[in-house]
Amino acid sequence: MKLVEFSKRTKDENTIGFLDLQHAKKVKDFHRSFPMYQTTPLRDLKNLAAELAVKKFFVKDESYRFDLNAFKVLGGSFAIGSYIAKKLGMDIADLPYERMISKEIKEKLGDITFVTATDGNHGRGVAWTARQLGQKAVVYMPKGSSKERFDNIKAENAEVTITDLNYDDAVRMASEHAEKYGWVMVQDTSWEGYQDIPRWIIQGYGTMALEAFEQIAEKPTHIFVQAGVGALAGAVTGFFANAYKGSQKPIVTIVEPTAADCIFRTAQASDGQLHFVTGQMDTMMAGLACGEPCDIGWRVLENYADFAISCADNIAAKGMRVLGAPIEDDARIISGESGAAPAGAAIEILANDAYADLRETLKLNSDSVILCFSTEGATDKENYKAITWDGKESNI
Ligand SMILES: Cc1ncc(COP(=O)(O)O)c(C=O)c1O
Repeated sequence: MKLVEFSKRTKDENTIGFLDLQHAKKVKDFHRSFPMYQTTPLRDLKNLAAELAVKKFFVKDESYRFDLNAFKVLGGSFAIGSYIAKKLGMDIADLPYERMISKEIKEKLGDITFVTATDGNHGRGVAWTARQLGQKAVVYMPKGSSKERFDNIKAENAEVTITDLNYDDAVRMASEHAEKYGWVMVQDTSWEGYQDIPRWIIQGYGTMALEAFEQIAEKPTHIFVQAGVGALAGAVTGFFANAYKGSQKPIVTIVEPTAADCIFRTAQASDGQLHFVTGQMDTMMAGLACGEPCDIGWRVLENYADFAISCADNIAAKGMRVLGAPIEDDARIISGESGAAPAGAAIEILANDAYADLRETLKLNSDSVILCFSTEGATDKENYKAITWDGKESNI
C-alpha cells in the first residue's frame, strides 16, 4: 500500500458549490420520489472499532440501493432526470418519478437511446432508468467483464456488449456512437463540451452522502472513499467539505487499485496535469478499473481531498472478508471488490503494525471516527465466493 498527500490546495469554493447541502437535498427529494427508494443502512461496527482501537467505524451499505446492489443508479437516474428536465425547460423539482415516467413526458420526448460504457454497476443503473422511462439503453462493457454483471444489465432490456476494449476506450466508443447515431451519452467522465451530464451524475451521488450525514451519530474525523474516475470520490469529498467547513472537515483518503491508480498518480505528480493509466488494468476491483480521472471530480479532490492510497487486490479482499464475517453482534455487510476497498485499506492500516507510519500520517488514533462507503454488494457472486471461501487474493 502506498500513500501520497495532496499538495496543491487552493480550497477554491467554486469547485464544490454544486455539491452543497441545498443541492444534495434537491437531489435526495428527486430520489425519494422513486417508489423503490429507501435510505440504505449506515452500520455502526462497534466491535470492529474496539478491535481496531478507534472510537467508531461506520460503513454505509449500498448493497441495499434500489434492489440494484450498488450506489451507482443514484448518478445515472439523476443525470437522466436532469437531462429530461433541461430538454423540456422544467425544473427537476417538478419532475418526480411518477411524472418523469408518465405518458405525457414520453410523448414530449419521443424515442431516446441512452448510451454508456461501464464495468457493470453504472450501466445497470442507466439501463434500469431507461427502462422505467420506456426508453432504450445501449451499454458497452470493457474486456473481461463479469458474466453476472452483463446478465444484470441485459435483464433491464438494454442492448449490451462486452467489447475487447479497456474501460476508457469503451467510453470513447460510446461517445463516438452517441455522435454518430444521435444517442444521449450518460457518462461520468467529463471533457470539453461534455460537462452537464457528469456534473449531474456527481450531484446524484449526493443522496448517499447526505443520507450518511443525516444518519451518522458523530462527526467523522476520517472518510475513506474509493475511486475509479473519481466522480464518486468528488461527490463525497465535496459534500463533506461543504457540510463541515474549515478545520472541521474530515480527513479524506481516496483508495484505488494500483493497476488503475490515476488519482493517486495525478496527486503524486501535482503538476497541474491529469495522469492516466493505460492498457489492460488488471484488478478484481472492476468498478475502480478506470485509468482517466473525471476532471470535474478531480478539481474537487485536488482542493479538498487529503491523501490517496494505491493498493493491491488483497486489500479489497481483506475488506470483503472482514465486513462479511462481523465480530459478535456487529452487522454483516456483504461488500463487493470495489465496495470493500476503502474499509479494507483502513482496517489494514489500523491492524497491521507494518503500517504504523501511515497511521501516524493519517492521524488515526483512539479518537478517530471513521466513515467508509461500501458502494456495492456481491455483484460478481462467483468471485465473492472465491475470495471469502477460498481466500482468493487477486486475479493475477
Ligand atoms: C461499486 C463501485 N464503487 C465505486 C466506483 C467508483 O466510482 P467512480 O468511477 O465515480 O470513481 C464504481 C464505479 O463504477 C463502482 O462500480
